[in-house]
Amino acid sequence: MSQEQSFTLDGQPVSFEDGQSIMVAARAAGIYIPHLCFNPEFKAHGSCRVCLTKVNGRIQASCATPAAAGQTVESETEELRDIRCGILQMMFVEGNHICPACEKSGACQLQAVAYYVGMLEPHYPHFYPRRTVDASHPDAVIDFNRCILCELCVRASRDVDGKNVFAVHGRGIHAHLVINTPSGRLGATTFSITDKAAQVCPTGTILIKHRGYESPIGRRLYDRQPVDVAGDVAQVPESQGGRRHD
Ligand code: FES
Repeated sequence: MSQEQSFTLDGQPVSFEDGQSIMVAARAAGIYIPHLCFNPEFKAHGSCRVCLTKVNGRIQASCATPAAAGQTVESETEELRDIRCGILQMMFVEGNHICPACEKSGACQLQAVAYYVGMLEPHYPHFYPRRTVDASHPDAVIDFNRCILCELCVRASRDVDGKNVFAVHGRGIHAHLVINTPSGRLGATTFSITDKAAQVCPTGTILIKHRGYESPIGRRLYDRQPVDVAGDVAQVPESQGGRRHD
């Protein structure tokens, strides 16, 4: 019989099973750690760094760090909140996130996590990158301005849908999401709004056409509950405002 193993998270004991990450064990225990590129249906990606925690005094991504017996993990500290806030501020200035004009506002995980960590202003100068909007697909729009390179659509399209519609091209500040066709247009792919890739975007990058602004502002997923209570947009049933892009 296997013995129960546990670590402490902000002083609270959290049990885990072999192979679980700190993030997965915390979620199973009902404890929220902010995150964006993590989705329990996929292998950890470790790219957004929003899930940073202090593990035995060392800052590590909780989604990519295996839980171990006796670990002391800190998450809700002022230091970590400041670091997460700085990371989110960089995400906001690196793209063009014009929340008041975004159809996803109120149902956007990036926006909700920013509220959760108390981000009140962007702090850094905006890059204002010149990015395009691709409306070539009959049922979906891709607004590259809002991509945070979490690669959830890349992973979902490749690993679940078997279509490989998306990819990230370039490195560092030049990295950007692309569509895997010679024209680079979504309309030239077999992408469908029933694809997993259409359901996992934590921002307003992938929007479904024909049902925009269905829920009025004030009644959207994160208008009703903060992200630590409401959960990830991709995990909330459509009837409750998740998996929707309105
Ligand atoms: Fe862990 Fe993105 S959620 S690095």
